[in-house]
Amino acid sequence: MKKIITSALITITLIASPITLAKEIVIKFSHVTTEKSPKGKGAILLKKIVEERLKGKVRVEIYPNSQLYNDKAVLKALLLNDVQLAAPTLSKFNKYTKKWGLFDLPFLFKNTGALNCFTSSKKGQSLLNSAENKGIIGLGYWLNGMKQISANRPLITPDDAKGLKFRIMSSDILKAQFESVDANPQKMAFSEVYNALATGVIDGQENTWSNIRSKKFFEVQKDTTVSNHGVLEYVLVTSKRFWNSLPDDIAIELEKIIKEVTAKVVEYALDAAQTDMDAVIKSGKTNVHTLTDSQRQKWANVMKPVWAKFAGEIGKDNIEAVQHCNAIN
Ligand code: SIN
Repeated sequence: MKKIITSALITITLIASPITLAKEIVIKFSHVTTEKSPKGKGAILLKKIVEERLKGKVRVEIYPNSQLYNDKAVLKALLLNDVQLAAPTLSKFNKYTKKWGLFDLPFLFKNTGALNCFTSSKKGQSLLNSAENKGIIGLGYWLNGMKQISANRPLITPDDAKGLKFRIMSSDILKAQFESVDANPQKMAFSEVYNALATGVIDGQENTWSNIRSKKFFEVQKDTTVSNHGVLEYVLVTSKRFWNSLPDDIAIELEKIIKEVTAKVVEYALDAAQTDMDAVIKSGKTNVHTLTDSQRQKWANVMKPVWAKFAGEIGKDNIEAVQHCNAIN
């Protein structure tokens, strides 16, 4: 009798399990900045909302600070479905699309207002699809901010950068940008920059206030120049392979959540641009120099010719769309 009951129970469990035990989807989100950075906070907010609204259906695991992968490796891991979300800067997709080079053109975006205007425009939104033929889906732009430049000497005129080794992200446009001032650009992972600056492997770097502060670059650079010469923008990406495997209702809810979080990241980034700059100045560990309009114009005059070399692969229409945003911001 006991035997009959046991086998009946096993049969019921086997029949019921596909319906009652739908497997929880785990999204691994790997990134390279700290948890307090705009991207780090965005990832935490995303996890919170997803796990509230898709409770029991989707769980998000966050791996900050290059704990799991650096930005080069994360894109390979994404395509292998080892991670399902990442948000590298648009500068790191050279191998996957040339179009996102738009965001690396020096002195193109007038300010973060123009950047947000472009990314939320029809043109900006359609540019999100640029890496789809390589299996990468852009889910949204996440703001960080305007880049500043630093070294162990004041960088006031373009000549001051001559001969210095600057760390750059893996972008040929950023390489050309530094070559235009006769400097030596070195592609390097974000996780290696602090040590490279501290040991003199490189002389300088460019980044946003939030990265300069959270990664302590200002502690190992005597001089930092408020140059606002470029932008640092992220793209929240997933793989086609993962995204297409999601049930429709979950993909739709995730899209909604991502929209909400994306708007919040703009707030985090704008706040960080101010508070992190203030904190770096207050620390007194680096001398902060602000370029006058005419000094800044000299850098722009030397760097802007880089545009012509890359305009074809980026698309002149995209550059013009940014210029339209510049005019109204
Ligand atoms: C990041 O903000 O994700 C890293 C930027 C960099 O590599 O400089």
